[in-house]
Amino acid sequence: MDLHKNRLSQIFTPDYIAEFMVKNIKQHYFSSRNGSTIDKIKVLEPSAGKGIFLKYLLSEGFTNITAYELDQNLKIPLLKSYPDIEFKFENFLGSDVNEKFDIIIGNPPYLGQNYNAQIFQELVKNYSICKKYFVGNMDLFYFFIHLGIDKLKPGGLLSFITTNYWLTKSKKTGIKFLKPHITNDCFMIHYIDLSKIKVFKDAKGQHNCIFVLQKKYANEKHKKIDKIIDVIQLKQRTNHFNEKSNGKLFTDILNNQNSPYLLNYTSAMTNKDLSKKNSWILKYPLDVKNVVEQIEKHCRFNGSTSHLTDFFVIRNGLILIKDEIFILKENESLKIVDTDMFIKIDKTFVKLSDEEKQKLKKIFKSKVIRPFSYDKSDFSGYLIYFDKNEFKNQNLTIRNELIKEKYPNLTTYLNQYKGDLENILRNAKENIKDIYFPRRGSLITQYDIEDRRKLVNLEPYYDKEPKIFFSYISNSNSFGYTKDSYYATSDTYFLWGREGKNDIDYLFLLAYLNSKIMKFLFLAKNIMIKRSKTKLEEEIPIPNTSLFNSKYQLELIDLIRYFTSNVTQNIVSIDETILYKLREISPNTFSQIRNEKYPRRIIDILLFKLFGLAEEDIDLLIEKYY
Ligand SMILES: C[S@@+](CC[C@H](N)C(=O)[O-])C[C@H]1O[C@@H](n2cnc3c(N)ncnc32)[C@H](O)[C@@H]1O
Repeated sequence: MDLHKNRLSQIFTPDYIAEFMVKNIKQHYFSSRNGSTIDKIKVLEPSAGKGIFLKYLLSEGFTNITAYELDQNLKIPLLKSYPDIEFKFENFLGSDVNEKFDIIIGNPPYLGQNYNAQIFQELVKNYSICKKYFVGNMDLFYFFIHLGIDKLKPGGLLSFITTNYWLTKSKKTGIKFLKPHITNDCFMIHYIDLSKIKVFKDAKGQHNCIFVLQKKYANEKHKKIDKIIDVIQLKQRTNHFNEKSNGKLFTDILNNQNSPYLLNYTSAMTNKDLSKKNSWILKYPLDVKNVVEQIEKHCRFNGSTSHLTDFFVIRNGLILIKDEIFILKENESLKIVDTDMFIKIDKTFVKLSDEEKQKLKKIFKSKVIRPFSYDKSDFSGYLIYFDKNEFKNQNLTIRNELIKEKYPNLTTYLNQYKGDLENILRNAKENIKDIYFPRRGSLITQYDIEDRRKLVNLEPYYDKEPKIFFSYISNSNSFGYTKDSYYATSDTYFLWGREGKNDIDYLFLLAYLNSKIMKFLFLAKNIMIKRSKTKLEEEIPIPNTSLFNSKYQLELIDLIRYFTSNVTQNIVSIDETILYKLREISPNTFSQIRNEKYPRRIIDILLFKLFGLAEEDIDLLIEKYY
């Protein structure tokens, strides 16, 4: 694809999708308006391409159609193929907002703002709609939705096919204006999830969706009317683009045929649940919601559901000025002989003092993280870790002198790379003298009960306190743990307890985070561990163990802690005497557990019992919907 095409984002919609979308929107339109005649309906296709939507609009009997297309190369073929359509070969984003339509349909151009900042700058300069709704991290098609909404008549319908990422984004990532605009002015009435099928032959790894918005009438806005959202989930997983079988699937949808590849349901989310600033989980069947609620029932503190963010802050591990310099590799820049350590300075190895040795910490990358633990042997090297608190209240120049005095060999080693380190800091617009300390990850800000801000030094936590950590990109709920010294690079996320949350039940929490229940919650709430932490912080409900107070539940919790502790220490054998109490309280649970070999399985079973859930039900839901 050449640059020109890329800028226009010319990816054309397959026939069967356009046919489906046109027939679908026609059905929606006439279902709410008896007796209206098709020639009165004003239709808009804002980015016509080669005109595939126009073809089906005409064949479905629409006559009053306006279409925009920016690419002048398409002008002649379009005019030739569709002589009865009113074309405007200009930028749709500059079109008159006062010209209103009953139906807007199409496949708008996708173009991420991040990599195309200049194009967006030009748009903002030239078009008022872009100026009004521009925000970093957005996509070009957001403007098409914004202007589309503004150009709809009350009751009018807009249906686009787009990528689906915007639905699960939160306000910090580009949807700041889009979600409020949609929820204020429209109802989402139909959502078709295409993430399991490949729609566009040439677009790599793209997850798509079709949605239908209905513009609110003034009284619907005024009375805060709510509406349901119909969902269609396609289950087919074809790696190869297969127009024929996908086409058949869409004919099935239109004809209301039962198909093993189709799920058709009303979302447990209604329009009033659609947040203006957070993720929308439209793919939310009622039977899934019921189980989520059953879990969340046990996560109430003072009447409301608590989430991870109420107890923890999630922070990356250590960001160093340059890993290759600060992380010493054994037999390269570091030699270890018995308990002595030697650092390489000017081609010779110099012995470190005991004080200096204490400043070297084993450091790990996220690849070593396993559920419940980590691979101890696979550390990346020894990190030079100075603690800012040791020299606090000193200005930088004095601090640098003191640190050199106290740790002469380590600082001499670092000074060999002074120019390099200073350059990195200079480019990052940071203080170039600050070459001895980690750039980030050694301190966190906390607020005490009176909301006073204080900086907490993390060294003692990295060194010994219980810690839960996980990879910052992962599609599974794999949470590591240790009470030992564990320093990690910035590709690791740590859960640091908030101020005043000192009584966290780490073993129980670890069991829960790594459980099959959590796996289900990840699927149900579409939680993924990505660079952005907001979803994790705000969507993972945290159980309130004080709500479990029957003798049976208390015993289950004790056992969960016991087995979790074993798993963290890699103990696989099971001491059966530990189960004697359980045998008395619940012979049933006891015998189920006795048949299990693996402690991790046992932990899962105990958690299901504790939450009052049947594992088979959850298996069925996962199988059915995900
Ligand atoms: C993703 S393609 C889809 C084309 C067609 N709707 C289809 O589904 O096959 C987007 C089209 O929008 C056109 N386009 C891009 N920016 C535009 C703009 N600002 N105004 C009008 N058309 C635009 C491109 O040239 C391209 O043909």
